[in-house]
Amino acid sequence: MLILGIETSCDETAAAVVRDGREVLSNVVATQFHVHERYGGVVPELACRFHIERLLPTVREALRTAGVGLREVDGIAVTQGPGLIGALLVGVSFAKAVAQACRIPLVGVHHLEAHLSALLLEEGALPYPFVALLVSGGHTHLFFAEGLGRYRLLGQTRDDAVGEAFDKVAKILGLGYPGGPIIDRLAQEGDPTAISFPRPFLEPESLDFSFSGLKTAVLYYVSGQRSAVSRQLSDIAASFQAAVVEVLVEKLSRAVRLTGVREVVVAGGVAANTSLRKGLVGMAEREGWRLHIPPISLCTDNGAMVAALGHAYFQGGRAAPTDLAPRAMLPMGGIS
Ligand code: KG4
Ligand code: ZN
Repeated sequence: MLILGIETSCDETAAAVVRDGREVLSNVVATQFHVHERYGGVVPELACRFHIERLLPTVREALRTAGVGLREVDGIAVTQGPGLIGALLVGVSFAKAVAQACRIPLVGVHHLEAHLSALLLEEGALPYPFVALLVSGGHTHLFFAEGLGRYRLLGQTRDDAVGEAFDKVAKILGLGYPGGPIIDRLAQEGDPTAISFPRPFLEPESLDFSFSGLKTAVLYYVSGQRSAVSRQLSDIAASFQAAVVEVLVEKLSRAVRLTGVREVVVAGGVAANTSLRKGLVGMAEREGWRLHIPPISLCTDNGAMVAALGHAYFQGGRAAPTDLAPRAMLPMGGIS
């Protein structure tokens, strides 16, 4: 079964062709970094325009690389939400038009469930029931996952998403956009113990997150310095990242203890972070978790994860209604 996956929820225009939910025949991502770079964050209106310009060429390239024509595609999967409404609208309208014109079945998928589904491409199945930590530019959520489309929210950020905190701290440090990968690289040359930034653990049993105070602590630290030489920048990056990683790993560990489930999945753009991956592997060894993280190349937004989830939905007999509409806010499991 050949699925065309389309993703336009934020700042990546992406399309992929996946065979039988596992074999990635193509995975094309048209990045918009250059569009948003000088603003230090995603500008929704510019994101929409870029999706409009790039979606058709991106889908064409995905089909060409996969060596398939639209007529051979058995199903189209498109991100229905959550995300920027205008950006989602481009992908959903396009997918509906192609599906109806070419009489191809269509499903709408949940963006965060698609991040988890990147694992399907590696492992062939998701290890239900499991605890999931979803860390991206827009979300920081802990879920108890019971099955496809069945998730219980355990905790979430009360302010900034963790990827957003990476991006904002990079902006404070004058490092460019998106900040996550830049801080990740820079931190490798820095001392994570150089500056003791706060670890926002909140109440003792809380599974919620809060990153805005940590971001402000970095801002105060930087504005208190006369000149930041590059050595200091790497120490700031490493120390900020160490605080983030410690909080994420500790909260996940609380969630594992609370649920008693030892299967753990970590996904989303920030799951590409080197130090987070190391911290998670260490904790998994100490605590006896079975840890599942998609490969770095599939952590950030892409069409292959959308196609993989779409395949699972099709297998379950799901199909989108003809009036499928994008949803900026969409609870996990709330797909129509
Ligand atoms: O999942 P994603 O591609 O898009 C959203 O759904 O938001 O995540 C993008 C976020 C950005 O904030 C980016 O800075 C962050 O993931 N990110 C990273 C790394 N790679 C991407 N953060 C930390 N370390 C990385 N290596
Ligand atoms: Zn994402």
